[in-house]
Amino acid sequence: MQIRQLKNSDIESVREICFLTAQGKRISLNKDLCCTLFCDYYVHFEPSNCFVLTAENDLPVGYVLCSQDYDLYHKTYMENFYDKLKSLSKHEAFLKKHEKLFLKKIVSSYPAHLHIDVLDSYQGKGFGKGLIRKLIDSLKSKGIKGVHLIVGASNKGAIKFYYKLGFKKVKSIFGQAVILAKKI
Ligand SMILES: CC(C)(COP(=O)(O)OP(=O)(O)OC[C@H]1O[C@@H](n2cnc3c(N)ncnc32)[C@H](O)[C@@H]1OP(=O)(O)O)[C@@H](O)C(=O)NCCC(=O)NCCS
Repeated sequence: MQIRQLKNSDIESVREICFLTAQGKRISLNKDLCCTLFCDYYVHFEPSNCFVLTAENDLPVGYVLCSQDYDLYHKTYMENFYDKLKSLSKHEAFLKKHEKLFLKKIVSSYPAHLHIDVLDSYQGKGFGKGLIRKLIDSLKSKGIKGVHLIVGASNKGAIKFYYKLGFKKVKSIFGQAVILAKKI
């Protein structure tokens, strides 16, 4: 197993992992919707902030995807992905447009924004922790001061994982989602 920076040739595997690990969560039915929300911006606009966990054959089985600057991410997202998102789901497009309001007071201290997913059979073996450590080391070397993420309130396992890694709850969004953050 190895954790390394994302390459262009990993993108389709990463999109598939994004879809497979979304099953049972809020967004589960449509691969294009999952990837437009959680994956495509990062792999195309900030590949240097994306790391993959690979198995023996060098194929990704997990990843951490990140934007080092949420405000720039949101602006770029709205310019490049919003129309596609709206065509896939008006509801998700509405949420994405307004997400920035919830993060307004958070991004100055915690500018980076992350997503992490590991395929089922590789979970619980320390790889998620390894991916977060790799990302945090990289962000630190770039002088980034903090990182945040948004997780569904019902995703109790993931919330415990983040707490274990030193993330703290900084906001709840209508009891539906939680914003967690960590100083770097
Ligand atoms: C959440 C996720 C990334 C964690 O990765 P992982 O490789 O399974 O986690 P690790 O094995 O590295 O665990 C690191 C620590 O967190 C703890 N932890 C991980 N998952 C946990 C869970 N479900 N419940 C309680 N603790 C958990 C581990 O016990 C471990 O603690 P330790 O350091 O004391 O041993 C992974 O389970 C996953 O991809 N889940 C499905 C998709 C998802 O929910 N992604 C997050 C969306 S916001």
